Amino acid sequence: MILLWHSNCSHKTTSSLYLGLEWELKGGSLVCPQFGTSKRAIPFPVLSRLDWSKSMILRRCLEAYLTQGSRIWRHLPASWRLRSVGLVYGRHLHSLVCRYSRRTQSHGTYFLRNRSEPELICRLLKRKALGASLDISVLACSKGAEVYSMMWAIRTARPDLRVSMRAVDISQEILDFAEEGVYSLKTFDCLKPFDRKSMTEEAKLAWNTCRDQPPQNMSIFQRMSEREMEAIFDRKGNRAEVKSCLKAGITWQLGDATSPQLIHTLGPQEIVVANRFLCHMERSVAESCLRNISGLVKPGGYIFVSGVDLDVRTRIAREKGWKPVTDLLGETHDGDVSLRDGWPLEWWGLEPLCEDRSDWEIRYASVFQIGEAPSSQCDTAPTQVLESSRQVR
Ligand SMILES: C[S@@+](CC[C@H](N)C(=O)[O-])C[C@H]1O[C@@H](n2cnc3c(N)ncnc32)[C@H](O)[C@@H]1O
Repeated sequence: MILLWHSNCSHKTTSSLYLGLEWELKGGSLVCPQFGTSKRAIPFPVLSRLDWSKSMILRRCLEAYLTQGSRIWRHLPASWRLRSVGLVYGRHLHSLVCRYSRRTQSHGTYFLRNRSEPELICRLLKRKALGASLDISVLACSKGAEVYSMMWAIRTARPDLRVSMRAVDISQEILDFAEEGVYSLKTFDCLKPFDRKSMTEEAKLAWNTCRDQPPQNMSIFQRMSEREMEAIFDRKGNRAEVKSCLKAGITWQLGDATSPQLIHTLGPQEIVVANRFLCHMERSVAESCLRNISGLVKPGGYIFVSGVDLDVRTRIAREKGWKPVTDLLGETHDGDVSLRDGWPLEWWGLEPLCEDRSDWEIRYASVFQIGEAPSSQCDTAPTQVLESSRQVR
């Protein structure tokens, strides 16, 4: 591309985005207007020595390649996509998308987003003695939907347990909203004004409830049945308020999951839920964050970690000897339709489970046991609790 500019455009102004800045080619020099035209002009001969010019060319080629690849993928019959050739092509596209996309964070979430996760927590809790205590942390809790969904499932299955649930997020604003436990039943279409300062309280509630709901602004309640809505909320007009019995036992805490200090604020946990936020980080950051999070889990405890690059998770799981929980493995992997539908063209998309792989259990498990519990902690659950656990399903 630089050669093209040399031959054809030396007299013209051509602009391009690189490093988040607008660069212009003016009379043989590359200029960043944001620095001032005269000061930072880079003379042409220097361009050929700069690595980034090559990466800019590569980026353009890659964009064109991915645009074509997306078209091909979208036109493939659904049955082909799941055949081995389709899977290989999908993995190839997804690895490129992951490698070159810029990751961004989001507060998007759903109540009962992946219902196999709370179901599995309840199954794991069957081993706990009557009236025992439970320390559980939900990291990156966003608007609280995951926290209240988990609490509802646990309280339904094991009303006897003394639950201490820590809900952590890096954003104080979203934590404040989550702690209120009040959501709007209005749809996003009603939210015409975007100036948040001039919004009424009702409009603010609707805006917060609907913000970042991907794809196409899906309702945060979309995955719930009427019976579940009834069980979790008190509905008053356009408001859905989480029942006070489900709010008890939750502590809302501002915290950064990448911080080594987190263990001092939370203390060791029996279950750590760290779902669907690591994929929003660059791989290297996600990897060190996951290592940090795993240090919060008590020996013999469990980590729930979905929505993360599978290679990153598998590498750490292998290296640290985590035991994949095979119960509900397939259901948990496939339980979040938006993640599965996003593959392979979105970086947060999740590849289909492929049992042909020799490493499939460790690769596709999203729940792991970390270390061994001291034998005295392996209690047996009373029969009535097993029955109430079944009712949750
Ligand atoms: C997509 S939401 C995930 C919500 C929920 N876990 C779920 O699965 O539905 C991602 C959340 O992660 C939070 N987050 C991002 N980086 C974080 C960090 N380093 N520590 C704690 N929370 C973080 C964001 O503020 C956002 O609310």
